[in-house]
Formats: sequence, C-alpha cells, structure tokens
Amino acid sequence: MIPGMNAFSYIPARSDPALPQVLANLYSDTHTRPTPGMRDAMHAAACGDEQAGDDPTVWALCDRMAALLGKEAAVFLPSGTMCNVAALLVHCRPGDEVLAHRTAHIVTSEHGNHAALGGIMIHPLEGKRGLFDVPTLEAALRPRSRYAPPQALLEVEQTANIGGGVVWPQVQLDAVLARGHAAGLATHMDGARLMNAVVAAGIPAAEMVAGCDSVWLDFTKGLGAPLGAVLAGSRAFISEAWRWKQRLGGSMRQGGVSAAACLYALDHHIDRLAEDHANARTLARGLSQISGMVVETPDTNLVFFDPRGAGLTAEAFAAAMRAQGVMVSTMAERVRACTHLDVSAAQIEVALTAARAVCAAT
Ligand SMILES: Cc1ncc(COP(=O)(O)O)c(C=O)c1O
Repeated sequence: MIPGMNAFSYIPARSDPALPQVLANLYSDTHTRPTPGMRDAMHAAACGDEQAGDDPTVWALCDRMAALLGKEAAVFLPSGTMCNVAALLVHCRPGDEVLAHRTAHIVTSEHGNHAALGGIMIHPLEGKRGLFDVPTLEAALRPRSRYAPPQALLEVEQTANIGGGVVWPQVQLDAVLARGHAAGLATHMDGARLMNAVVAAGIPAAEMVAGCDSVWLDFTKGLGAPLGAVLAGSRAFISEAWRWKQRLGGSMRQGGVSAAACLYALDHHIDRLAEDHANARTLARGLSQISGMVVETPDTNLVFFDPRGAGLTAEAFAAAMRAQGVMVSTMAERVRACTHLDVSAAQIEVALTAARAVCAAT
C-alpha cells in the first residue's frame, strides 16, 4: 500500500470521444498547438546536451531573455511551476514565509510544492482582483523576532490570473515591491502572462519588472510554445537556481528543440497578443448583453463572468457550452474564457452564439 493512497486518482481524465467536436477552445491559453512556422524552427534547431552547457539554442534563449527582462542571467526550465518553486527555494530557507496574494498560483495550484520541498510557508494577502496595495502589505509585515516565522520574500503575479488577467498599475507594482525591499524582503514575479501585461500596458518588460529580484515568463501560455519557461535574476541567483533545476530533474538534454520554439514565439507571437486582448473585449461585451450575466471587464486575454443571474451555475454553463462545442473553464462560481493564438474573431462569434443559446434554454 502506498502511504496516503486512497480511492482518488490524480491521473488526468482522457478527453471523452463522445463529446461534440470542439468549435472554439476558450478553456486555456495552454491549449495552443505549435504553428507550422514554430514546428519548422524546432526542426531546424541546433542542439546539444543542455545539462552540460552544450546547447547553443538554449544559451541564445537565456541570453535574449536576460536582456529582455533587464537581468544579469537566465535559466531555461520545463515549466512555470518549476520556475516558481526553484525561485522560492533559492530565496527562502525552511520555516521562512512568503507574502503573496491569496489567489496566487503558488497558493492555489502548485500542490504545496514550496512546503513539501522547502518547508516554506505562505502568508496570504487580501486585495481586489489579485492585487494588493502598500497598506495591506504593511499590515502583514512583522518585525524580526524569535517567535514569528522570518519573512523572506514578496511574490506578485503578472497578470493576476484568478484576479481576472489583471495588469498591475505600474505605480502600485513599483510601490509594493519597493516597500518589500525596504522591509528586507526579496521580490519575485510569477510572470506566466507577463507579455500580455507588457502589450496591454505598453511598458517595456525590463521597466515593468525592474523592482523584481527574480522573474519568469511562460512560453506555453499565449506565446504558443509546447514546453518551457525562463527564470531570470542576478548571476548569483541563477547559479543557485541551477542547483534546484538539477535536483528537481529540470535539466535537459537536447533542449534546443524546445528553446527554438520559444525564440520563434519571441519573434512572432508577442505583438499579436493585442489581437487576443481585442477578442477578449469583444467576448466580454457580447456576454454582458445577455440578461443576468455579470462580466468582469478584461485587461488582457482572460474573461471571467458569473452566469448565475442568467439561470446557470458556472459548472452547468460550462457543461452546456461544451455540448455546443465551446470549451470554457470554471473557477468556483466564475467561468473563465481565455483567448489565445488558436482562437479567431470568428470563433468568438461562435462562442457568443452558443452562450446566447445556452442562456435562452434555461
Ligand atoms: C499565474 C500562473 N502561474 C504559474 C502557472 C504554472 O505554469 P506551468 O503550467 O507552465 O507550470 C500558471 C499556469 O497556468 C499560471 O496561470
């Protein structure tokens, strides 16, 4: 018997072949498929043993990302989750506390990796739409003592996913990061959708993340690559992150095949994020015209809404949409519809037609 084993299975369910064909996939920006151009770039990639420092394409990606983010160095990791946990493990010691919004991915969606692997605790902060302000941070700061857990790190998420794909106002972001530094904390940004924020705000990435000691960008969200995220920081930080990359099994072999997809995404898939944002606005506008639907105004590519006033729970709405060939996800009482590389303006109309039909049938 495996300790802790019970009837619950962690294995993801396979997709049900009996479900209708997918006409519009708004479930997640992780559902993109590599484009033909990206596949060509992967096919042509020069590669070597990444773990041994011998892969020129991975080095090219890391150098480019360090420059883009205005940091000394960068490391290529398989996923954003590994970037977060490696960063927390470098910044913190067992017993240390991280301050983060209570809806942050590190709180809700990483299966307690920081606690399991590093004995790290998270102090959850309140605030509207995934953001918090300086007074909220100040109220959570404690003087050093022999009793309270040491506070080591302040974490922010850009964009704030569960907050609604919200972009931090730059003044607020700079202020909380500066206050964290003043309190002796290191600062870390989960930049899973950082480039969505950069495109939406029109602020260069390096400027946006200047107050962060470490920051990472995911290539498997709106940027459309099949694998990979890049974590950046000081040379000393990245040296320590490499230890965790190795320990966690994140060192690769011919990583250049994946890094080539990421480089392709940097060249071809950043400016076009504006199309995803425009599609999200069109979707939000159309949904808000359905009687009873409460729609949060999107900053970027995530549209959150509550269909209960239209007569359906979030789960019931998502199931009814799936029956019409449209995929959306749910988060508690809200539905999340996500625009990305593989969602066209025409598919937004398909989704709106389905939503109107689903609500009219209640
Ligand atoms: C805000 C945020 N952080 C981290 C992650 C984890 O990224 P990955 O799926 O690459 O592990 C996600 C993924 O959805 C996310 O939305």
